[in-house]
Amino acid sequence: MLACDSSRLSRNNLNFTAENCSFIVRRILVTSALPYANGDIHIGHLVEYIQTDIWVRFQKLIGNRCLYMCADDTHGTAVMISARKAGVTEAEFIAQMQAAHERDFAAFDIRFDNYGSTNSPENRILCEQIWTSIREAGLVKSRDIEQLFDPKAGTFLADRFVRGTCPNCKSPDQPGDNCSKCGHHYSPTELIDPRSTLSDATPELRKALHLFIELEKLHAFLEDWTQSGKHLQPEIANYLKGHFLGEPLRDWDISRPAPYFGFEIPDSPGNYWYVWFDAPIGYMASTQQWCDRHGEKLNDWWRSNDCEIHHFIGKDITYFHTLFWPGMLKTAGYSLPEKVHIHGFLTVDGEKMSKSKGTFVAAKTYLKHLDPSYLRYFYATKLSSRVEDLDLVIDEFVAKVNTDLVNKVVNLASRTAKFVESSGLSPTYPDDGGLFAEAAKLGAEIRDAYEATDYSRAVRLIVGLADRANPYVEDRKPWDLKKDPARARELQDVCTVALNLFRQIIIYLSPVLPRLAEQSADLLSDPIQHWDQSQQPLVGTRINKFKHLLQRVEEKDVQAMIEDSKPTPGESASADRQPGAASQWNDSGDSLAAEPLAPECTIDDFAKIDLRVARVIAAEEVPEAKKLIKLTLSLGGDTTKNVFAGIKEAYKPADLVGKLVVCVANLAPRKMKFGVSEGMVTAASTEGAPPSEVFVITADQGAVPGQRVH
Ligand code: 2FM
Ligand code: ZN
Repeated sequence: MLACDSSRLSRNNLNFTAENCSFIVRRILVTSALPYANGDIHIGHLVEYIQTDIWVRFQKLIGNRCLYMCADDTHGTAVMISARKAGVTEAEFIAQMQAAHERDFAAFDIRFDNYGSTNSPENRILCEQIWTSIREAGLVKSRDIEQLFDPKAGTFLADRFVRGTCPNCKSPDQPGDNCSKCGHHYSPTELIDPRSTLSDATPELRKALHLFIELEKLHAFLEDWTQSGKHLQPEIANYLKGHFLGEPLRDWDISRPAPYFGFEIPDSPGNYWYVWFDAPIGYMASTQQWCDRHGEKLNDWWRSNDCEIHHFIGKDITYFHTLFWPGMLKTAGYSLPEKVHIHGFLTVDGEKMSKSKGTFVAAKTYLKHLDPSYLRYFYATKLSSRVEDLDLVIDEFVAKVNTDLVNKVVNLASRTAKFVESSGLSPTYPDDGGLFAEAAKLGAEIRDAYEATDYSRAVRLIVGLADRANPYVEDRKPWDLKKDPARARELQDVCTVALNLFRQIIIYLSPVLPRLAEQSADLLSDPIQHWDQSQQPLVGTRINKFKHLLQRVEEKDVQAMIEDSKPTPGESASADRQPGAASQWNDSGDSLAAEPLAPECTIDDFAKIDLRVARVIAAEEVPEAKKLIKLTLSLGGDTTKNVFAGIKEAYKPADLVGKLVVCVANLAPRKMKFGVSEGMVTAASTEGAPPSEVFVITADQGAVPGQRVH
């Protein structure tokens, strides 16, 4: 069936007409960030792949022509080192990794149209072609730079592979870029007694030629593209304006000297493209493989006004996808992304995923204990179009799956299907008091929410339909009707209504829960092929024998998964800090750059500030103030303080109650419009970031109110 939708007329290449009604088939190419080939897929990665997969499945379901491309990101020093450690060639190492990644993705029902590798012949050809365009545009220059070289491992060292004594505070064993003790920012060449983390050798300073792309030459274009209001979330456009576009863009160091696992630059022998040059080109190389299999042309997807390109990425790689990548595409004459959809990071129970706490859960460990549909559903209930972090609160996870999905949705079928196994559905759709028609009407809103990647809203609307359908079943009591053979017709009608309301909900949910959708379609003998099936009731079909659709999630299984994710005695929890274990730990220097360190102070200066652990015992919004929440803090015993905190846009008062925060307890009281503030709650933020991005500093488990923070 074809649907009318005049709001989507802008980008078409196929235009069907049926009964005065035209539906435009959009052509859409979608990507998720290419996972590094040096680590397993974990539940943090899955936020993005599930988010993207839902969007792609939705686009396909409404009839658009949509391709989902991905690949393994294989190049760079980290893979080279991991392969050496494993005693295999890089090619063997990345092949094993890719097989594991593909297995994990498939198990979570993430369905790519092509899954490639950046180490492919297609990628090499495209890299060479794009490189030629960039050279011809006069954007490449070269100069010697000095870098630390590990003579034992025989490789230049990226900052994260060097440690040494801080040149500022002299703390030993500090990372290669900034000191964890005093925060001083330095180059690894400034470290005292530097050593390579690869071999423990003392690195030598060596000069090497590097090639750079002069991004500043594309400044005007990048300013227009990022600030057009069309391609980026507003907070991202503002961030780029505030942090990068306000000054000349720095040259981009695009090459690495041998040895490096990657592609050698044809016109600069001995030098290799830096992994971030060839990685996004991998999106195109993956499309090329798909095109070769399907007899299509790459240019119809990457150089066509009739194709939209959508990238889904995490906020840590914003810079690459919103400045470098559009610059490369523009220079080489390819289409620019229609939209870069950027999401936040995953936290578990309010904290960063942690190996020692067992919340750093690998996809394969999750699969040993829990049904992948649970995670798809839970993430959908949390995802919106904003760049917000997503918190997996274990209790909420269990409650949402059991209450919404099992009790409200699946129950509609499990309580009725068995009564119509022999009769099938009624031949005509019975009077349901308008329930089906209302739910059909709501389809447009649900569809808009999916389109806008506002899945939390889509799911809320869908669960709202289940809330209306369940009372219908409870009022009609099919289990009682069943006892009276004279009311068999009535029983069939009641079950026909219930199963149709169930089917509608399942069609709407099918981008999120493809497995449940398939099982439900089998039950109703009605495969789900198009969103518009939700607009017409199903009548007269056979109902198959009811099989369990989805089990309840058991708290004990979640706990077992967490236990299973904790490091074994041989494994150190310091794995939490391993570079490259997860892209979300490649912390950028943006926050520090946005607000450089304050002038030095003495320990006596610091001692004047009395920081204390305090428990939030009450929190309420100040209705007249846009930013303020009034907090009552307990410092233990009877000592409390009232504090006004500017965190309203970042926290709900109820979520703060009970938290152990760190407060400035000896701050002179300040009279404000709404009362006296008797202290200050500490919180972190990046200079210039939106007020929703404020993070209250909390104390670790075990701390108690009143303790001094030193
Ligand atoms: O951050 C990461 O995990 C990178 N491997 C993403 C690459 S995305 C694209 F550009 F290839
Ligand atoms: Zn230091």
